[in-house]
Amino acid sequence: MIEKTYHIETFGCQMNERDSETLAGMLEELGYGRAEKKDAEVVILNTCSVRENADKRFFGVLGQLKRQRLSNPSMTVAVCGCMMQQQHIIDRLQTGYSWVDLVFGTHNIADFPRLFVNARDERKRITSVMGEAGEIAEGLPAKRQHDFKAFVNIMYGCNNFCSYCIVPYTRGRERSRRPEHIIGEVEQLAASGVKEVMLLGQNVNSYGKQKAGDIGYLSAEEGGPDFAALLRMVDAVEGIERIRFMSSHPKDLSDELIDCFRSCRHLCRQIHLPVQSGSDRVLKAMQRRYDRNQYFTLIKKLREACPEIAISTDIIVGFPGETEEDFKDTLDLVRRVRYDSAFTFLYSIRPGTPAAAHEEQVPEEVKHERFNRLIKEVHCIQQEKSAAYQDRILRVLVEGLSKNNKNMLTGRSDSGMVVDFAGGEELVGRLLDIRITKAQTFSCYGETVD
Ligand code: SAH
Ligand code: SF4
Ligand code: F3S
Repeated sequence: MIEKTYHIETFGCQMNERDSETLAGMLEELGYGRAEKKDAEVVILNTCSVRENADKRFFGVLGQLKRQRLSNPSMTVAVCGCMMQQQHIIDRLQTGYSWVDLVFGTHNIADFPRLFVNARDERKRITSVMGEAGEIAEGLPAKRQHDFKAFVNIMYGCNNFCSYCIVPYTRGRERSRRPEHIIGEVEQLAASGVKEVMLLGQNVNSYGKQKAGDIGYLSAEEGGPDFAALLRMVDAVEGIERIRFMSSHPKDLSDELIDCFRSCRHLCRQIHLPVQSGSDRVLKAMQRRYDRNQYFTLIKKLREACPEIAISTDIIVGFPGETEEDFKDTLDLVRRVRYDSAFTFLYSIRPGTPAAAHEEQVPEEVKHERFNRLIKEVHCIQQEKSAAYQDRILRVLVEGLSKNNKNMLTGRSDSGMVVDFAGGEELVGRLLDIRITKAQTFSCYGETVD
């Protein structure tokens, strides 16, 4: 008899992680159990295409599966996610990877059980990718990664078309879930013991703001909640002790949302607000639709509403046409905002996006040189900000064993700081007060407070 085992490897962002939880839930309903990749009868690679490196890593991992697949005639290899929404990737899989059994995209995850059973039983390659999204599928199963914290999609897709970004092409147009479905899911999670929810969308601030005729929930037409009002509804769900959301686009960050940091009891004092560049010229070319002064105003308002708020960001270095002056504007912005953390990326050409066709691509060595200067600045500030945690008592949600030291537990503070401390595994999922004994740049050590 064939062992019913599966393994899912997920690349990319939280959207993909959440999708993988759905795929895992579907496989478990079909009687499959989780296994190591080398022992699995079904392997799914859920891909990301946001930078070229992500594409490369996928083809590397896929290549390593070939021997296992060819030596096991009953095995199924499936690939899905953002890369599959691009024809040049499908073509490459068609020609060089004939042993892959199933190819599907981001818009037909609901169809996975049927596609999978066909591919498994018919033993012929199935490719099923939809160019556009249909209605939002609700009520799909999910095998969640954690019992105490959970991702909750509030919307899908992106309408912003930042000129460097592939996501609007791989995830389609914005669609918002109905508030009652979101609240129903959060209530269910709370009832099962979940304490922290992360509300997910490429741009949560445009929740419900789509236009008449678009798919999904439209707040203006129905007079229902926008994102700030939805947050207040989630805040009122009994048992949910922490709420986070990501990502926020600065152009849509409303005063009502900023006010939630005053009025929502369970909203974590933390926001991820990607700036991408500190140069107005580059921001314009990126089609971000805000300038640095508008961004500074948002930061000021956020800090007025919540003086302790931890602010993180994403920054791209070496966008086509970026000059030394532009880059200095980014450094200047970083120094002024003083981020608690920042994800920094080298600009990566994404075929099919407007910026890819730009003639003034920045040479690799210039990009790297700027990148190094930027992270030096970012880390220096981060270190100063982290030092302020020394000797403080932080409320920490215990997440599991520490990656740094298997004899310790790890958790996160309200602000998102990683805290390692000694304790037994029975504490996982609990909220504890931890006194910080050693504050480092990226994480802290602490001890439980009796
Ligand atoms: N929707 C989110 C971002 C999703 S992609 C938002 O707008 O905040 C995550 C990050 O990847 C982006 O914020 C951006 O900084 C980076 N990114 C996207 N496309 C990129 C590219 N072509 N090269 C380098 N970094 C990129
Ligand atoms: Fe990409 Fe911009 Fe959409 Fe974010 S808002 S997913 S960076 S297009
Ligand atoms: Fe990557 Fe797709 Fe997320 S391209 S970053 S997995 S939306």
